[in-house]
Amino acid sequence: MLGLYDSGLGGLTVLAALRAAGIDADVVYFADQAHLPYGEKSDAALHGFLQQNLALLAELQVDAVVTACNTTCAVAERLGWPPTPFPVLDLIANAGAAFAGTPHRRIAVVATAATIRSGAYGRAIRAAAPGVEVVEIAAPALVPLVESGAVESREAQAAVGAVVAALPPEIDAIVYGCSHYPLLDHWFAGALAERVVRIDPAVAQAAAAKRLIAARGFPSGSGTATYYTNGDPHAFEAAVRRWTGDHTGKVAALIAH
Ligand code: DGL
Repeated sequence: MLGLYDSGLGGLTVLAALRAAGIDADVVYFADQAHLPYGEKSDAALHGFLQQNLALLAELQVDAVVTACNTTCAVAERLGWPPTPFPVLDLIANAGAAFAGTPHRRIAVVATAATIRSGAYGRAIRAAAPGVEVVEIAAPALVPLVESGAVESREAQAAVGAVVAALPPEIDAIVYGCSHYPLLDHWFAGALAERVVRIDPAVAQAAAAKRLIAARGFPSGSGTATYYTNGDPHAFEAAVRRWTGDHTGKVAALIAH
């Protein structure tokens, strides 16, 4: 069984990427909605949330964790990963490594304030692709819009437009450095120049998960997902149904924690 965690709904985009990559493992997903938004929290607080999330997934006896939250990966890069009895796939490390041999020369990373403050994305991309220019831009308005269900609103469109307007004009790719942002992809697509390639790190994370599953010989599952939130389970259930489509299999349980 794979464990995923995020502060909220964003990690559902990573779960969708796992399913799109053909991974049928059973999944347990924890949304730490009581502590949203992660991007506005201190490094020390975030490191504490990371420890709690991994401890919860350990209790649930996962075989591996596929992190679905960039912000905690950014903090772990500097403060260290808590020890776990299972492997943990680092979303930023895997996203960065996927830039080896990239044709892109000027890449913008949009992410939460805490991720941008860390500089972790820039380091990960430049390590894989020396000479590539990376611009890192915080977009703190976006997560609350997604969590409040305002993805289709004019406000969301305007907020994405403001983020795009702040990007240098000569970029040739943009990285969604927060797992909530792919849910706003249609607004980014409309605001960006057509030549700008939109990159979802969940694709690289799913590829890493596939490699891990093959290397460890994890048994295949039946594609079920069990969700836990310490927020409102009914609202979360509605969001799961909306955002996962038929990628996630059944919602076996939805329990407030
Ligand atoms: N979705 C998370 C990430 O990828 C964090 C969102 C938040 O709570 O600020 O960083």
